[in-house]
Amino acid sequence: MKIFEPIEIKGMKVKNRIGMAPFANMPRGEDGSVNELTIRWFEERAKGGTGLIVAAPISISTLAMNPATRERTIRSVGTPFYDERHLVGYEKLAEVMHSYNVKIGPQIVGGGPMAGGQGPSPTPYPDEKHVKDDIFDVQLMRMPAKELSVEEIEQHVHDFGIVAAKMKAAGMDFVEIHCTHGAASLLSSFVSPFYNRRTDKYGGDWEGRLRFPIEVIKEIRKAVGEDYPILIRISADNLLGERGVTIEDTTNIIVPAFEKAGVDCIDASMGSYSHSTEGIIIPMYYPRGHFIYCSAAVKQVTKLPVIGVGRIVDMEMAERFIEEGKADIIHMGRQTTADPETPKKYFEGRPEDIRKCIGCVNQTPEGGICGRPCAINYDIQDEPIPLTPAEKPKKVLVIGSGVGGMEAARIAALRGHKVTLMEKDSELGGMVAALALTKLTSEFRNIVDYLATQMRKLKVDVRVCKEATVADVEELKPDVVILAAGSSMVIPEVAQGKPGVMNHIEACRRQREIGQKVVIWGLVATELAISLAEEGKDVIMIGRGGEDTLARDAPWARRYWLLRRLTDVNTVRETPETTRLTNPEILYYVDVEDITPEGIKIATKDGDKKIFPYDTLIISRERAANDSLFEELQGKAPEVYKIGDCSQVADIHKAIWDANEVARKI
Ligand SMILES: Cc1cc2nc3c(=O)[nH]c(=O)nc-3n(C[C@H](O)[C@H](O)[C@H](O)COP(=O)(O)O)c2cc1C
Repeated sequence: MKIFEPIEIKGMKVKNRIGMAPFANMPRGEDGSVNELTIRWFEERAKGGTGLIVAAPISISTLAMNPATRERTIRSVGTPFYDERHLVGYEKLAEVMHSYNVKIGPQIVGGGPMAGGQGPSPTPYPDEKHVKDDIFDVQLMRMPAKELSVEEIEQHVHDFGIVAAKMKAAGMDFVEIHCTHGAASLLSSFVSPFYNRRTDKYGGDWEGRLRFPIEVIKEIRKAVGEDYPILIRISADNLLGERGVTIEDTTNIIVPAFEKAGVDCIDASMGSYSHSTEGIIIPMYYPRGHFIYCSAAVKQVTKLPVIGVGRIVDMEMAERFIEEGKADIIHMGRQTTADPETPKKYFEGRPEDIRKCIGCVNQTPEGGICGRPCAINYDIQDEPIPLTPAEKPKKVLVIGSGVGGMEAARIAALRGHKVTLMEKDSELGGMVAALALTKLTSEFRNIVDYLATQMRKLKVDVRVCKEATVADVEELKPDVVILAAGSSMVIPEVAQGKPGVMNHIEACRRQREIGQKVVIWGLVATELAISLAEEGKDVIMIGRGGEDTLARDAPWARRYWLLRRLTDVNTVRETPETTRLTNPEILYYVDVEDITPEGIKIATKDGDKKIFPYDTLIISRERAANDSLFEELQGKAPEVYKIGDCSQVADIHKAIWDANEVARKI
């Protein structure tokens, strides 16, 4: 199978076809240097079987840095190149990677209009036209950016060459030029007519707009010599239609031009950070492998090795894409965070042990983009509690098989404890398994499947349809009880006992009972609302809050996507997935006054009264911890803990974290 086979990029032999995509937020020292944590971060991936690693970007110079945001920029996009001290870190990193026969190289970036504050730009940004147009992420894009002078462009070209030479000297196997993701990088914003409205030799037609990246390629080649691999990352499709770079522009013009200029490999990403969550770091709402068409198209026009990327979380898919000739190497990004051992487990013939990314786009309190932390991988943080064999194997009872309960059972069993898991329902997975039944959030199933498989493999004594009682605990006599009984939706008094009322979780489980006219009370269950509307139901969402409370709990990339569908947030590219929906209808500042056989009686902020006839009323508001057993169990076992929603209502991340913090210590 090709996925196991080595591949050469300009004489550099990569041992297999799985790469790690560049992540801006690898751990670094305060001053941006590569330190022990950075090395451990990549070593995890190297041990995990990845053949090629594109390390996080190095910013070419402080020219790209606004003094006000300089510190932040250094931490996220790396060391200013002139600081020689930092090369030692890269030397050590190269040495460690080579001990695993892994090839590593940094991505080199000149930050673009988005680089923060006064980020450099081809043309002043945003200009009148952009503001009037349809900028999607208005907040991000209103950052003023300053136009680069010709002297500054020449300085950048020169700097790219210097950084590349230093990285080669430090033992890095290759460099990758960051010419992707629209406003994120200077080079890609020069290529795109959407950002580049210059009239001098660096703007205008294709020749003008490609001049800057081509000069960079040639400068790097001069600096590193003929035999050293230069990769370039592009957005094969800007997702801006004719106004940006189209896939045809990429295949007809850009790839041939870059190849002629001397690059050795094309890394085909897609999108632009600022316009669309469909590109770059797509959330779970898009199909896996969503932008493999980009690398597939590039492969048609070049003999150079081509890298494909984009929500590829299963190795079978990676393998298929390679076999079908859609890419020569598959990059995994977030998947290497969810499970750094993904390739290794597959190569060892145990794909069922892979913890697949759920595409939540960092549903953690830290927010931001994924990587550190990760909602489902506790070990990815800088200082996890180590997983060590238990000093004395204990009898552990876990009550509740949501993701927190199963994770606690997994960790306890891995440490050598004897674990029993009791679940009151007939299936494992609790609330997360229920949410996974909704089309838009079906990727949640990944974590449930992984944990359920581990229960079997670790021989956890799983008892379903078994609601744990104090008597059970007295009979089983466990040394440790971990209560992970989750939470329940609170049904407002006015809705209690009324026909057709379900809570959100019941609605996910009993979708066939949902009628045609659906009212969802609460503005958080947007994914369920859209999924039901897409099935043809007439859906109305009502809530007490305003627009700012809509999809409030979703991480930013998901929230933008949801708002784009449900509100009038601007969007540049209309696709079936991004079209503004009128169903579900959303009503803000609404109080429910009564529920009668006629319907739901509501009052608006202005005091208007309305009645909505309904078949099903879905409640998705507050949740309350199912913790009543906790007090009752005190004194019934030597150690009693509660974790996840049962200790404080939150999310998957908290459930997984709590589970580890308890199960690694018992
Ligand atoms: C936290 C994070 C940081 C990223 N930083 C960069 C970056 O600096 N340069 C880049 O080209 N892509 C960056 N990306 C995009 C990834 O390299 C990758 O293309 C993207 O995540 C899609 O792959 P995936 O679905 O396998 O995660 C980043 C993605 C994430 C999640």
